[in-house]
Amino acid sequence: MLVVEGGHPLEGVVTCSGSKNAFLPIAAAALLTSETVKVRRVPDLADVRLILNILEGLGCSVERDLTTSTVHIRAKDLPLGEAGWEDVRRMRGSVYVLGPLLARTGSAKVSLPGGCVIGQRPIDIHLRGLQELGAKVDIDHGHVVASVPGGRLRGAHMYLGGSSGSSVGGTGNIMMAACLAEGETIIEGAACEPEIVDLGHFLISMGAKIEGLGSPRVTVTGVEELGGCEHEVIPDRIEAGTYIIAGALTGGRVKVDECEPGHLAVLLARLHEAGVPLEIGGGFIETQPFDPHDPGNGLRATDVTTLPYPGFPTDLQAQWMVLMTQAPGISVITEKLFPDRYMHMPELLRLGAELRRQNAGTAIVQGGTRLSGAPVTASDLRASAALVLAGLIAKGETEIHRVYHIDRGYERIEERLGTLGAVIRRESDPWQA
Ligand code: EPU
Repeated sequence: MLVVEGGHPLEGVVTCSGSKNAFLPIAAAALLTSETVKVRRVPDLADVRLILNILEGLGCSVERDLTTSTVHIRAKDLPLGEAGWEDVRRMRGSVYVLGPLLARTGSAKVSLPGGCVIGQRPIDIHLRGLQELGAKVDIDHGHVVASVPGGRLRGAHMYLGGSSGSSVGGTGNIMMAACLAEGETIIEGAACEPEIVDLGHFLISMGAKIEGLGSPRVTVTGVEELGGCEHEVIPDRIEAGTYIIAGALTGGRVKVDECEPGHLAVLLARLHEAGVPLEIGGGFIETQPFDPHDPGNGLRATDVTTLPYPGFPTDLQAQWMVLMTQAPGISVITEKLFPDRYMHMPELLRLGAELRRQNAGTAIVQGGTRLSGAPVTASDLRASAALVLAGLIAKGETEIHRVYHIDRGYERIEERLGTLGAVIRRESDPWQA
């Protein structure tokens, strides 16, 4: 567990890591070629270890150098194995191997991920897209079993959105599969997230022909084969945003270096509206010292609605809620992507926050409350981050249990917050014994 002693001002610099959600599909894309791919700026995270294990299980050779944050992956020999339930259950991002496996080998067997604490999380969009490319897809004893009659996928013109709009994972999976399909694939309703653009750039370096990246209409012209390449992963915008919110909450000068402010335009606009002074430059964002509780110049209640990129990221919703507990007045948070992604609320209530759920997907924050430390339980990655942020400003000590979730997405968080002046330590968790 993490134990956070609240009330210490933060000041200093953190360097942004490479993006977890960009690396996961990039690692899976290595399955598309028999040559070696080299990826730089790979974050040291539990989810990264998991996808690399899955790739090894599928027959890839993986070499990782933690000192240079570099990974070499080679999927030389075929046929490859299957991605089993244990792995897919632990990380839904493992479904990214489906498209590449199918495109490269003509068949794939991947466990069907179940729901998770942030909501139902179906993969119907992924499966529909693969069927549009000519795959035969069956669900058999909890597995997706897919094959390609005729051996090669065929390009198609498809709309890939769902009821909540575009799908990050669905777009990534289909984009990867389409690279080796025969002819042209047009994906309408494609996800515009920077992580998908980064995947696209990686695929282009492998020899893929892709146009329209970052727009809702992506065109992929299939090629016979892809080759090895070298690529550097983009900075993790969610990690950067989390540290910026930490700076804003504590009123300190926190600089996040080597990030991409352009990927966080909506967060920066909302922070400006909420009264947080910021300095933004090429590759950095820095919160400026201020008193969050100053009645005239402190934090202001500011509503957000989570939406696909470039809208407010669902992965920063929980952290934003913590910030709003300190802004006097009422703020409304509307979660459009995962309407049940509010598992952090009961835990924040234990710290003294005033919150309530309204309609499906909506939460009301009555801000301006002083939080006080208590034992709380982390339910998922971003909820854990939010609880750590709350602990930074809560009076006394906050114990965050089941904090292993945080290691899935934040590299050495206690060390980094420690260098900023936070008082935070990791202890063995009696609740996990
Ligand atoms: N959806 C469907 N059917 C599908 C796929 C998605 O209905 O087949 C729905 C989802 O239920 C949701 C919406 O579409 O309502 C968007 O889901 P999306 O597919 O975009 O999400 P994802 O690819 O499963 C990725 C990130 C998540 C992040 C979401 C939204 C990875 C590995 N995961 O998930 O990140 O919240 O996009 O931006 O990239 C995290 O890092 O903590 C995390 C959960």
